[in-house]
Amino acid sequence: MNNILSEKLNIKISKAQIELELISNKIVELPEVFYFDEIDSTNQWLLSNLSSIGGKKLLCVAEKQLSGRGRAGREWSSPSGANIYMSFTCVSPVKGKDVSALSLIIGLALVRILNRKGVTGLALKWPNDVILNNKKLAGVLIEARMIAGVLVLVVGVGINVKMPVGFELQAERGWADLVDFDVSLADRNHLIAMLYKECSEMIKVFFERGFSGFRDEWMGCDAFAGQEVVILDHGKRVCSGKEVGVDEQGYLLVQSGSDINRIISGDVSLRAASND
Ligand code: BTN
Repeated sequence: MNNILSEKLNIKISKAQIELELISNKIVELPEVFYFDEIDSTNQWLLSNLSSIGGKKLLCVAEKQLSGRGRAGREWSSPSGANIYMSFTCVSPVKGKDVSALSLIIGLALVRILNRKGVTGLALKWPNDVILNNKKLAGVLIEARMIAGVLVLVVGVGINVKMPVGFELQAERGWADLVDFDVSLADRNHLIAMLYKECSEMIKVFFERGFSGFRDEWMGCDAFAGQEVVILDHGKRVCSGKEVGVDEQGYLLVQSGSDINRIISGDVSLRAASND
């Protein structure tokens, strides 16, 4: 069978294919996989179904989202049959643990997986954007709920694989996808399973030992390292200065004169000369 024909036959996301990939890659704890041709948001679907999960791990994927959401109430463009929209659950084993660095870990997992697929030019923008050649390729949205005294996290990942022409993403520098690389729509089942596996293993280490073991690797991918940045929180300017990486907890460090500001939340953008 030629490649084009086989891609056409296998192009859709498939629950059975994802399960097969997870099993053949010896994932320790198999999640229950839910697939939808169309859904409001994979994150929302999991959040609405958390109370019935018991101790199970859930993975929800869709071909299209009608109300895909991004950070800070933004929309996440989610056209059909073009990208990856996936969400999965994980339970924080430690009560009161600061889990904010988790989104950095998920971005790092994605960089690892895509590097293995031969994608080059990737970088990470704090806290959770994956950047390809200065444009946004993927984003992470983590939402949390207390269920029977347990903190359950819903980790949502959107990756642009082959955006249809004309779609705009809510990102300040436009969007990137994977069309220039040897990654096709037919690879999505494999990518979803690989990303789930990588994230599960990294999350386990994070819950046991914290972020510090991932810090150097994250800093090696830092899109804005050493650059002048502005930090905004809900549109309000918090501070500006030189971005000097992240600390052991995953907080962003911004140097202003002899002060180092530790940023816990906010949006980072490059400082234009006119902002000085
Ligand atoms: C961002 O960068 O703003 C985060 C984007 C997260 C998008 C994903 S797509 C799958 C999951 N479901 C959603 O509604 N959002 C996340």
